[in-house]
Amino acid sequence: MKTVWVLGANSGLGIPFCEEIFKRWGECHLILSGRDLLKLEEVEEKLKKKFSRITLLPFDIEDFDQIDSALVKVNELGGVDMMIYCIGLGQRSNFLEMDWKVFNKLMHVNFTGVAYLLRKFLNIPLSQGRYVEMIFVNSIQAVLPIPNRTAYSASKGALRNFLNSLMLELKGKNIRICQVFPAYIDTDFSRKAMDRQGNKHDHKDSNQSKGMRPELVARKSLEALWSGKTELIISSFKYKIIAKFYSLFPNLFKKLFILIRG
Ligand SMILES: NC(=O)c1ccc[n+]([C@@H]2O[C@H](COP(=O)([O-])OP(=O)(O)OC[C@H]3O[C@@H](n4cnc5c(N)ncnc54)[C@H](OP(=O)(O)O)[C@@H]3O)[C@@H](O)[C@H]2O)c1
Repeated sequence: MKTVWVLGANSGLGIPFCEEIFKRWGECHLILSGRDLLKLEEVEEKLKKKFSRITLLPFDIEDFDQIDSALVKVNELGGVDMMIYCIGLGQRSNFLEMDWKVFNKLMHVNFTGVAYLLRKFLNIPLSQGRYVEMIFVNSIQAVLPIPNRTAYSASKGALRNFLNSLMLELKGKNIRICQVFPAYIDTDFSRKAMDRQGNKHDHKDSNQSKGMRPELVARKSLEALWSGKTELIISSFKYKIIAKFYSLFPNLFKKLFILIRG
């Protein structure tokens, strides 16, 4: 039986990813991580009809000691065949007004924590020659800037470049990595996003409500991985075109953005 470790499993994309995995692989051993054990237990309750073996592994990606302990546990459980990484934290604040601790937290949750985790995690499958598939849910904001997302964009951009560089280092090894860059997804992500003082934004933005279904994002992410892609923007045609336009004409994009948005 394959083992799939879903990080950021307690909300949003967590359950849809597990259900898509079930469609492809049937029964698996699921390891579910997030910070909140109670929320993980609710997820377990919803998934236990399909998955008879579920291990809950709560930890905080900001805490290196907790990451170390989680990895010890994962190794005791026999390692994993797939990692699905959905942990992320959003931002709703202007850079110059932002408390520095907010900037640091976003960088840590969205980038430094996962880099630390991978530094420790990869050693074992690499030493065993074990085949591991990995999906990282990044964001379209890693490739398309908008205002009031400086730290979020920076952290997701750092994650993008880090993973792309790592993929090249791991060439020829049995590790397959795919990162996806979704536009808005209909989850509670904006409610948990931090304002300039680090409080929860506590509001579901209209872009979020009009966003893609999480099931679609999970399915497209897995299809991208299994078809051999290493990167994929998941969005409507409109955002794909805007992202393409930005990559080709960054100066013109910024001029037009300022002209249109003021
Ligand atoms: N929703 C969107 O519009 C959108 C668009 C593009 C990309 N994304 C990306 O998609 C991913 C999943 O987001 P989502 O929409 O599913 O939102 P979500 O429901 O808020 O999921 C985020 C997950 O990250 C976990 N998390 C946050 N901080 C953590 C920490 N310090 N340690 C451990 N876990 C932590 C959350 O757990 P807690 O419940 O404990 O906070 C939650 O399980 C994120 O990486 C996000 O950047 C989202």
